[in-house]
Amino acid sequence: MGSTVSFLLLLFLSTINHISSESIIKLPSDNDISGGNRKVRADDNVVCDSWRLAAETNNAGAWNGVPARCVKFVAEYLTGERYRSDSEVIGKLASEFAKRVRLEGEGRDAWVFDIDETLLSNLPYYQDNGFGSVTFNETSFDDWVNVAEAPALAASLSLYKELQELGFKIFLLTGRSEHQRNATEANLLFAGYSNWERLILRGSSDQGKSATLYKSEKRAELVEEGYTIHGSSGDQWSDLWGYAVASRSFKLPNPMYYIP
Ligand SMILES: *[C@@H]1O[C@H](CO)[C@@H](O)[C@H](O)[C@H]1NC(C)=O
Ligand SMILES: *[C@@H]1O[C@H](CO)[C@@H](O)[C@H](O)[C@H]1NC(C)=O
Repeated sequence: MGSTVSFLLLLFLSTINHISSESIIKLPSDNDISGGNRKVRADDNVVCDSWRLAAETNNAGAWNGVPARCVKFVAEYLTGERYRSDSEVIGKLASEFAKRVRLEGEGRDAWVFDIDETLLSNLPYYQDNGFGSVTFNETSFDDWVNVAEAPALAASLSLYKELQELGFKIFLLTGRSEHQRNATEANLLFAGYSNWERLILRGSSDQGKSATLYKSEKRAELVEEGYTIHGSSGDQWSDLWGYAVASRSFKLPNPMYYIP
């Protein structure tokens, strides 16, 4: 009798043990994937797409340069239809929000746009400069800015025009410096932008400040002037957070570089 109970208990315990080990999800190992002993790395596309998501959601924090194994992925993302599609979805969501905003009128309803990788795309420059995988060269980038032929990001151009029709005042808040004002204005007009309310660039007293601080200070000045910042669009978190933030912020994709 005693031994039968022990046997049943043992059987019961081994069943539990069996169930619990089976209830843990087993992920395929590298060996399972390759079907043999040959070690294969996880697909770069999968790993790099996860890295991109981590960068965009700021889980990656202040990242410095595209990981070497992801340069090809980033190049394909930016030059393929995915970047365009991501930007269009964000532009559409911004537009839907803007249409729901109850404007206060009196010309005090503001929307703040960043410029680089938001209104203008510097993809032609980055295409020749490693898609963010090489150290930023200020000299060659400034040369590119002076050419003033960066194309518009299509989704941002249509949002920009729609916001103007809805009655928003458009403020352009950029990390570019005051000495680049002419080239920046010329480039914006070249790309199809016009009738912005104000173009704000870094003056001498703004040099050396983080983008987050500089942009917060400038937004706070707008609020002090009586503007309500309903929306803000930028490719960097530093375009959007800090203080005097917009009611809604729209983060455009940029897997090439991170500005604090
Ligand atoms: C940066 O760009 C300038 C102008 O194109 C070039 O002369 C210089 O060699 C570059 N510097 C580096 C470190 O690549
Ligand atoms: C910018 O353009 C204005 C008028 O076109 C001109 O007077 C000024 O010298 C230019 N500034 C620079 C820094 O090129």
